[in-house]
Amino acid sequence: MMDFSKLKPARDVAIIGIGSTEFGEHWNKSLRELAGEAGSKALHDANINPEEIQLLVGGNMSGGMFVGQEHGSGLFADYLGINPTPSMRTEAACASGSVAARVGFMAVASGMYDVVAVGGAEKMTDVPGDTATSVLAGAMDQENEAFHGLTFPSVYAFLANRHMFDYGTTREQIAMIPVKNHKNGHLNPIAHFKSKITVEDVMNSALVADPLRLLDCSPISDGAASIIMVPADKAKDYDDDPIYIRASAQASDSLTVHDRRDMTTLDATVWAAKEAYQRAGLSPKDINIAEVHDCFSINELIAYEDLGFAKKGEGGKLIESGEVEIGGKIPINTSGGLKAKGHPVGATGIAQLYELVEQLRGKAGKRQVENARYGLAHNVGGSGATVVVHILSNER
Ligand code: COA
Repeated sequence: MMDFSKLKPARDVAIIGIGSTEFGEHWNKSLRELAGEAGSKALHDANINPEEIQLLVGGNMSGGMFVGQEHGSGLFADYLGINPTPSMRTEAACASGSVAARVGFMAVASGMYDVVAVGGAEKMTDVPGDTATSVLAGAMDQENEAFHGLTFPSVYAFLANRHMFDYGTTREQIAMIPVKNHKNGHLNPIAHFKSKITVEDVMNSALVADPLRLLDCSPISDGAASIIMVPADKAKDYDDDPIYIRASAQASDSLTVHDRRDMTTLDATVWAAKEAYQRAGLSPKDINIAEVHDCFSINELIAYEDLGFAKKGEGGKLIESGEVEIGGKIPINTSGGLKAKGHPVGATGIAQLYELVEQLRGKAGKRQVENARYGLAHNVGGSGATVVVHILSNER
């Protein structure tokens, strides 16, 4: 793998505003209203007017299949009142939002634009559950996986079984992950689920794809989130405490899981994380807080290992140690994660950055992690064909 440590963007980039809707089932709000609400909140937080936006980048996985709406970027720009500002949509399955953030980051870093709004939105609950499962399965290999009846819960169930077989990871250890994330979601006013659960609740919930049960799965959610980026040199003109994007990294792997080197490692996470650490000049030990992609409980456990927070095979020990709880060495998914905060797929990557900004600003309320300096966001598209890792800091 190449060395990214010497590659510097032309300009450093900072975040000066964030906005998010509550995540959940929004029967009375449309896709455009969700996106508009998040965008307006971000503009308000940044204390800027819509006409100051020079570019809008929006992540949306499947507006066409979920609500019949393609060309969301044009719609959102219109709805936000920023025409004739250019707008574009990014799609990379559940990583659509993070890819939007990367495009926005590159636009500011290159010097092409100064004030960029990025966002993500998805309205998933207007279709029946089985339709949502099929739409999501559109992000898998259609010929080699979906055609044979695979869905995302079943793909991640393979990973869970293999991890348990290879490393002796226990079903209870895996169940501790949603328990922690619901505990955090309980403290998050914008989370889809604010209820606490126990390991027994997880173990006794309905079987979805053996060994994964209902409470191992992220839900089908509606929601939107947005952030405003500017060059770091100009950030203090807008905000006394900007948050800096210290690294934006991405990697790709095979769409089909059976083509992977190892089923219990998402190599794209390992590669994207290495790139992010190199670009930021940091190591996993420097990270104080992380939002990781727990679309299914097992994926958070694997992420501990792939991001370097635990040795290979020791993710189970890390969750058992309590160090990933708020108050531990490396609190993970303080927002509640995808499991409890919710997973409106196109919005998720931006929502992770939203939580990191709240934490790094010291504004996360009861979820606040003391003295957090570096935060990492890890967003997976599909079963790992796309992975994006961002590192943010309250220090430049
Ligand atoms: N966690 C906790 N509770 C959940 C839940 C979840 N993931 N999903 C649904 N529920 C609850 C609902 O709130 C509802 O509760 P209620 O009866 O008290 O109102 C109940 O379970 C039944 O909800 P329903 O919508 O009928 O569930 P479902 O069986 O249609 O869907 C899953 C459950 C797990 C199949 C669905 O949430 C799912 O597909 N999740 C994975 C999404 C996914 O793959 N995302 C992309 C990842 S790569």
